[in-house]
Amino acid sequence: MKSLVIDTPSSNSTIYCGNGAFAERTAALAQKKLFIVTDSNVFRLYKAHIQGAFGNAPMYILPAGEHSKNYSQLLKILSAMLSAGVTRSYTVVAFGGGVVGDIAGLAASLYMRGVNLVQIPTTLLAQVDSSVGGKTAVDFKGVKNIIGAFYQPSEVIVDPLFLRTLPRREIRCGLGEIIKYGALDAEIYKKLKNNSNALFSEEFIEGITYDCIVHKAAVVCADERDTGGRRKTLNLGHTTGHAFELYYKRKSHGEFVLIGMYYEIFIAKQLGQCDVDYAESLVKLIKKVLPSIPAYADAQKAALFAKYDKKNTRTSLISLIVPKCEGESVEITLPAERYCALIAQCAEQLDQRRK
Ligand code: NAD
Ligand code: GLY
Repeated sequence: MKSLVIDTPSSNSTIYCGNGAFAERTAALAQKKLFIVTDSNVFRLYKAHIQGAFGNAPMYILPAGEHSKNYSQLLKILSAMLSAGVTRSYTVVAFGGGVVGDIAGLAASLYMRGVNLVQIPTTLLAQVDSSVGGKTAVDFKGVKNIIGAFYQPSEVIVDPLFLRTLPRREIRCGLGEIIKYGALDAEIYKKLKNNSNALFSEEFIEGITYDCIVHKAAVVCADERDTGGRRKTLNLGHTTGHAFELYYKRKSHGEFVLIGMYYEIFIAKQLGQCDVDYAESLVKLIKKVLPSIPAYADAQKAALFAKYDKKNTRTSLISLIVPKCEGESVEITLPAERYCALIAQCAEQLDQRRK
């Protein structure tokens, strides 16, 4: 098991990563007073693990899925905490994917103005990204992550054990975020390129998970509150991905990140911002994970949802983080109409290629 510390002005968060991390770290946690948040799928699959590790600790089980990441479920969690007699001496354990981590993290930040939080991510996406760095949120009025807080967990326990039950589609979602890291970090990019035929293998995923966490930890240490410019690089692919996610409401977050990256790489190429061979190589990686990129007929309309992106300073200007060359990304800002037109052009090109 490896470990690393995220040391920020407001907190100290230790990440434990590797086989055996769950058994080892929960043995220490069991001494504490705990409140568990999980979801219905994870509870069904891991009831024995939860009961074995946490005994009869009070628990809230969310209905599985993004639709549960809302304020009404948030209030239900807070209400269950109050009914269970949770005090400031308790630790909230978020045991599940990114949805559980985001909403349980927000509940922990609000209850009694903040109780200790431990993240135990059970999806690949949550292990490489959402459980690390302290961003918590719920969706509101159709806008993703619009109500939230920065709230660091005291520890994150990343154990590949849980990935064995993940459907391939969820592995694909995690690989979406991993490719995002590849577009930001030259070492991760090289590993992805050298293992492009083994991206789904357990061994590859285990190694690259730690690399992604190391990258994210460095970014969070440098710019915890997402104000200094460094943390927004983690949004590569997400502006368009989130816009499509809001509009189409069909696929899951990680798949939209892959689709968003594809469309944004097209824009970067059109605007001469990305080295062409490098762009092609990133597209190849994306297609290894998601072979068919949708040629959305109404992509232009969907792209309008990018105006909600938190990087924008005005809704008439869209800000994107795009890959430039190996290990380097760049922020570009373009008028919303131009952005939407380029998105439509990318969709048309995809459609032409299909015919
Ligand atoms: P999720 O939590 O909905 O999990 C995906 C599915 O996998 C769910 O059906 C869940 O029940 C199931 N599942 C979880 N663990 C499992 C396991 N071990 N075996 C089998 N099934 C399992 O979604 P996600 O992809 O983990 O996370 C997406 C969410 O994370 C989005 O809401 C996104 O906005 C958020 N996110 C947050 C950050 C952040 O920094 N806070 C970063 C990236 C994404
Ligand atoms: N997932 C983006 C961030 O943590 O900033």
